[in-house]
Amino acid sequence: MAEERDAIDELERRTEQALTGEGPERIAKQHQAGKMTARERLDLLFDEGSFTELDRFVTHRVSEFGMDKRKVAGDGVVTGFGRINGRTTFAFAQDFTVFGGALGEAYAGKVCKIMDLAAKNGCPVIGLNDSGGARIQEGVASLAGYGDIFLRNVMVSGVIPQISAIMGPCAGGAVYSPAITDFILMVKGTAHMFVTGPEVIRTVTHEEVTKEDLGGALTHVSKSGVAHFTGDSDEEVLLLIRELLSYMPQNNMDDPPLGPTDDDPLRLTKELDDVVPMNPNQPYDMREIIRVVLDHKQFLEVQEFFAPNIVVGFGRIGGRSVGVVANQPAALAGVLDIDSGDKAARFVRFCDAFNIPLVTFVDVPGFLPGVSQEYGGIIRHGAKLLYAFAEATVPKVTLITRKAYGGAYDVMSSKHIRADLNFAYPWAEIAVMGPEGAVNVIFRKELAEADDPQAAREKLVADYRERFGNPYSAASLGYIDEIILPEHTRAMIFSALEALKDKRDENPPKKHGNIPL
Ligand code: HXC
Repeated sequence: MAEERDAIDELERRTEQALTGEGPERIAKQHQAGKMTARERLDLLFDEGSFTELDRFVTHRVSEFGMDKRKVAGDGVVTGFGRINGRTTFAFAQDFTVFGGALGEAYAGKVCKIMDLAAKNGCPVIGLNDSGGARIQEGVASLAGYGDIFLRNVMVSGVIPQISAIMGPCAGGAVYSPAITDFILMVKGTAHMFVTGPEVIRTVTHEEVTKEDLGGALTHVSKSGVAHFTGDSDEEVLLLIRELLSYMPQNNMDDPPLGPTDDDPLRLTKELDDVVPMNPNQPYDMREIIRVVLDHKQFLEVQEFFAPNIVVGFGRIGGRSVGVVANQPAALAGVLDIDSGDKAARFVRFCDAFNIPLVTFVDVPGFLPGVSQEYGGIIRHGAKLLYAFAEATVPKVTLITRKAYGGAYDVMSSKHIRADLNFAYPWAEIAVMGPEGAVNVIFRKELAEADDPQAAREKLVADYRERFGNPYSAASLGYIDEIILPEHTRAMIFSALEALKDKRDENPPKKHGNIPL
């Protein structure tokens, strides 16, 4: 009995030690910096009381630089599993209070174990990043540890959802693990990501930049497009992860959760009657249409502040998760450009990998003209979106709300690249280009010779608009399956998704395609 008691006491003592890490002062310092500890974060991320920690007693095996006298149970990373929204999820949280969360060999082993368990069991894996990077005292072994993690990030990409939250420093090569994962969330003020920091930049390029401007949350959600979401605090970001996961299946062999909804899927959407202005050059916010169509008007927009000329995000229709892709006439008239190509292509591929149907709203005047766009490679960036839509085998439903011109018509989930059901509003214009441009090209001679070029142009534009400024030419060829009224938008999209819910489609067997990166 006494021996048993001793054994239990020993466990309690060691557990207490592991939980205190390198001491209460460091935990207090973490709080002073406005950050939660790794364990506090995991408690909030997982359903209450459901988190089970693993490898709590792992320590490093290094003796250089006095490290043999500095061993801390857990070694600076907390790993384990639990439930999120009732579903099993694996996670690791870097513990900045122990060795600054810096990664060594044993630490990397813990992270890899969690990733392997998540992969074998088909569950999402979440990484909470807050670390000084490669543990300097461990030298190349820590680089090897990163390599082991990178490899796993790649191997499970498209197999299980991977989500990264940046909640402190994340610099150097360490950024590449989150970069490979599906979504990155950053906490405003405390999260920083960069390959080389302000000091190195000052030395090499003589540019002066603050840590925040270089790699803070706002920079990455708006300028670089590296991050997808930002939150004001650790809490906000952790709750956002829970919400994001609610749209996803557990793995690529699973369907996204189908929940009951008390929002009638056949609800009339009368409020859409006046959203789209008849003047094709007048902007409107496509999100008004998206929200009205989705259950309870709930739309989780992804990369809201990057390439706002295309809108992507998650919602539900009739309780079923959908990925929404939409041109945004309120930003840059909704043109496709380099950044919007990258943004939407990656989103489409995520949805396709994880069996989330795609609903596409189209109002696109074409591609953004300009030397910088051409030099920047709009050809290969735009090609990504075309490739992603064409390759996707999930149910694809498209609605043209107003314009669909030129190559952009083909790109935006048209029938020709395997969209399943395509609808248009009665005033949709589906044509090679807008009337003014078209008339300038095909009637150049007539306009040059006309007595009154202005009047001649107006007449030709009106003729062209009558001929092509409607959806009937496309509908007569079967490229549009049905012309619908705005009030039937939700009901039609729901019915289409119902009809397509058991869709089976396959791409030819291949090692992998060669998307223009
Ligand atoms: C070992 C580290 C460490 C590291 C921080 N610490 N980073 N220990 N290896 N990489 C330790 C500190 O020595 C300190 O320990 C404790 O963590 C807290 O660090 P502070 O400096 O007191 O905290 P703070 O002022 O908040 O600054 C945080 C920091 C800074 C900005 C991260 O520590 C820093 O610049 N660290 C070095 C970052 C770095 O150069 N890492 C290597 C990058 S290369 P004590 O015991 O003194 O309190 C890399 C490549 C990855 O990561 C490669 C992947 C392929």
